[in-house]
Amino acid sequence: MAGKLSTTFILRKLHQITGIVPLGIFFGVHMFTNAKAMNGPDVFNKAVEDIHHLPFLLLIEIFGIFLPLAYHSIYGIFITAEARNNVSKYSYGRNWLYFFQRVSGIFLFVFLLFHLLHFRWGLFSAFGLTDIAVAGNADRAFAIVASDFQNAGILIFYVLGVFTTAWHLGYGIYLFAVDWGLVIGEKAQRAALAVCAALAFGLFAAGANAAFSFVRPCGLMPEFLCEQQSESVPAIRSEEF
Ligand code: HEM
Repeated sequence: MAGKLSTTFILRKLHQITGIVPLGIFFGVHMFTNAKAMNGPDVFNKAVEDIHHLPFLLLIEIFGIFLPLAYHSIYGIFITAEARNNVSKYSYGRNWLYFFQRVSGIFLFVFLLFHLLHFRWGLFSAFGLTDIAVAGNADRAFAIVASDFQNAGILIFYVLGVFTTAWHLGYGIYLFAVDWGLVIGEKAQRAALAVCAALAFGLFAAGANAAFSFVRPCGLMPEFLCEQQSESVPAIRSEEF
């Protein structure tokens, strides 16, 4: 029994740590790279190309992204299936947040599966989407994403994906801080929640603006803040690939 408990304990802690350290850091870096789309196709393509030239890229991807993501997602679904949902019994704000943490995890599983299969491996060319992977095509990275984001449904799906990831990470950091005894007491926990919500909002704002930058110069920001001004993002059609 004690052995079983400690295995569960370790798996749980590993689930928290994989969510924050490799995946949280990756998400922040990824939104920062995407934000470069504000400054136009050349700047974004150069940023993607720089990533493609990182030394040990395949090892970084496998051990820093794919394995932690697979573990975090699969064990997360297992925890969700086991968790008893208190929302209908006690409708306290925290119970709703706890419930949303699980629902957002399930949505993210679907979103990330689609996102990776499509942009990383060039699959899912239905609904007029491109069938070209961004990996290995850095010179066309902006054009590939912009072509897909002409479809309003896909753009909205991505903005929702960014929102859900940002909230899932922000609230995950809060839960981690409480669970590890880093914030004790009602007042400290309320302050920690506010900080985590602000972090989530910042990541969401950067990511959502990046998404809109593929359909409008500078995204949702005023154009004087960006290098690429006045001319609109060129319309990209699939025949151009
Ligand atoms: C504005 C929204 C987003 C855009 C435009 C976007 C764009 C891209 C592109 C173009 C790639 C392929 C990169 C390459 O192969 O060189 C990629 C990969 C990836 N994206 Fe996103 N993404 C967005 C949101 C997200 C979100 C919310 C997550 C959640 C964590 C995410 C996770 C990933 C992962 C895990 C990879 C694979 C990284 C790799 O293989 O190195 N993306 N994304």
